[in-house]
Amino acid sequence: MNNYVHGYSERESKRLQDQANTLDELLHHDSVFPAGSKILEAGCGVGSQTKIIAPKNPSCRFTSIDISGESLKKASYTIQSLKIKNVEFRIGDIFDLKLEAESFDHIFLCFVLEHLSMPVQALLDLKKVLRKGGTITVIEGDHGSAYFYPDSDAAQKAINCQVKLQAMHGGNALIGREIYPLLCRADFKDCTVSPRMVYVDSSKPFLVEGFTKNTFTAMIEGVREDALMNSLISEQEWNQGIKDLYRTAEDDGVFCYTFFKGTAIKG
Ligand SMILES: C[S@@+](CC[C@H](N)C(=O)[O-])C[C@H]1O[C@@H](n2cnc3c(N)ncnc32)[C@H](O)[C@@H]1O
Repeated sequence: MNNYVHGYSERESKRLQDQANTLDELLHHDSVFPAGSKILEAGCGVGSQTKIIAPKNPSCRFTSIDISGESLKKASYTIQSLKIKNVEFRIGDIFDLKLEAESFDHIFLCFVLEHLSMPVQALLDLKKVLRKGGTITVIEGDHGSAYFYPDSDAAQKAINCQVKLQAMHGGNALIGREIYPLLCRADFKDCTVSPRMVYVDSSKPFLVEGFTKNTFTAMIEGVREDALMNSLISEQEWNQGIKDLYRTAEDDGVFCYTFFKGTAIKG
């Protein structure tokens, strides 16, 4: 997938790991599946979520797929070094799954739909390998949910560059708010969406480092060249925007962002 907005660099691998480690409890305190379940994790990337949800569900068997062989190598290395035994990695495309129909009890995907130009089709293709009565869990962010103190037009413009670039690549950085309609459009039943807000101030230094700086601002910084090359913003305004995002990580700064976790059933 060469048009993937975040790319596959070492820096991005580290950012995905920081993101998952920081958001572990918020996103996954309830990522618990019935004992013995067979779970498909679609778009596992470097295994940042895998290494959290697989040990949480030790009696379940995970098949974790990704379209990127390079990411799978990293994921496999991480899982082996943590001595996690219930995960099998496979290269695979969500839109061309070489998996038996109705062979999984649960499907899990995190930060994947936001990069796909056909998210409903992805859900329909995934649904084919889910058994009737099985469930799907989808986690996504929504950059429209980012607000902070001190407020800054330049910071909002820098964030909007990421939103525009992701759209130019066929994705949607505002997809969190669409999880419910997307799951309904793919004809899943009993959809429930749970918003998960990250609230960060300097009384939570772990989140200041792990979320405001190393997850969110690092992600925006990662699109600098693309944003400037596409003339989405001037260099001066970009630099100010990034400076203002770091400013929210100072002693009196505040940063808020909401993730959305949806679950639904195949009727
Ligand atoms: C932002 S990463 C998220 C990785 C991981 N789920 C996480 O939360 O850290 C998105 C992943 O989706 C994968 N991906 C994109 N399109 C895909 C497709 N059609 N089939 C399988 N994986 C895909 C990418 O290769 C990338 O690893």
